[in-house]
Amino acid sequence: MGEKKVTRIEDLPGVGPATAEKLYAAGYNTLESIAVASPMELAEVAGLGETQALKIINAAREALEMGWMTAEELLERRKEVGHITTMSKNLDNLLGGGVETQSITEFYGKFGSGKTQICHQLAVNVQLPLEKGGLDGAALYIDTENTFRPERIMAMAQAIGLDPHEALKNIYVARAYNSDHQMLLAEKAREIIEEKNIRLVVVDSLTAHFRAEYVGRGKLAERQQKLNRHIHTLQKLADAYNLAVVVTNQVMAKPDILFGDPTEPVGGHVLAHAATYRVYLRKGKGEKRIARLVDSPHLPEGEAVFAIKPEGIRDA
Ligand SMILES: Nc1ncnc2c1ncn2[C@@H]1O[C@H](COP(=O)(O)OP(=O)(O)O)[C@@H](O)[C@H]1O
Ligand SMILES: [Mg+2]
Repeated sequence: MGEKKVTRIEDLPGVGPATAEKLYAAGYNTLESIAVASPMELAEVAGLGETQALKIINAAREALEMGWMTAEELLERRKEVGHITTMSKNLDNLLGGGVETQSITEFYGKFGSGKTQICHQLAVNVQLPLEKGGLDGAALYIDTENTFRPERIMAMAQAIGLDPHEALKNIYVARAYNSDHQMLLAEKAREIIEEKNIRLVVVDSLTAHFRAEYVGRGKLAERQQKLNRHIHTLQKLADAYNLAVVVTNQVMAKPDILFGDPTEPVGGHVLAHAATYRVYLRKGKGEKRIARLVDSPHLPEGEAVFAIKPEGIRDA
């Protein structure tokens, strides 16, 4: 029909030069990033009405032929799923070959159970070539508790034959000062993800700020709503860029609510539905840790023993 094929944002009907500029400035660089946006967020960043924003989103989806997929197409998309090794064969097996892209994996457990160590290890391992269990990519690390340690990254990189300084250069760290800042960091991550070939996004801890800021039963609904939105943002990044999202969630010995199971992680059912893989970590003897897979869509529940060694995560 002589119609120009839509390949860039400015080709979309309804996107004029001024709108395109605003979208680019906000980090929406690709049709994919538009296609997975919500009308509300797009309206906000581009100064549009929501109806107009929805039209643009639909046009992007059409251009990408998104929408209904046959199960066979879905299977094709599943074939693109990549895995990042944890460096423990036991833990990898439990997870069906390592931490998966297009998914959110949640590690939850008490203080000292190894959540942050696993995040560090994955941020190093994602840089490995495919044949060594990596994705030949970089990592984005949202640190909310100030527990990210470059020195630990260097030790872990050295132990697996990576140049420690190169390893540091491939990890983009942001300190989130409160829950709003944390959400904003995820919402604005598109640009850096595209530019730096990010294949892993870590949020350590996902829930600490939310827990600290929304205290008491009266604030519970608002907290869950915001957490839900944040998780949704992360899932969209995982889908749009075929990357792995890994989040941590600390279980308190003393619950901050007066009802429910004290070993229930913060976020409760919101996280239970959103995280594709939930892994409960607990301490064993010495350096040993036990991981239990909970609620997986296609893997059997089970346990794996691993160890936190000076060189990083390994089999016990
Ligand atoms: N350099 C290291 N060598 C060996 N073990 C370490 C090292 N650094 C941390 N650990 C182990 O990791 C544990 C802390 O795990 P961490 O991931 O910080 O827990 P969480 O994030 O779940 O609170 C420590 O108790 C220690 O056993
Ligand atoms: Mg930690």
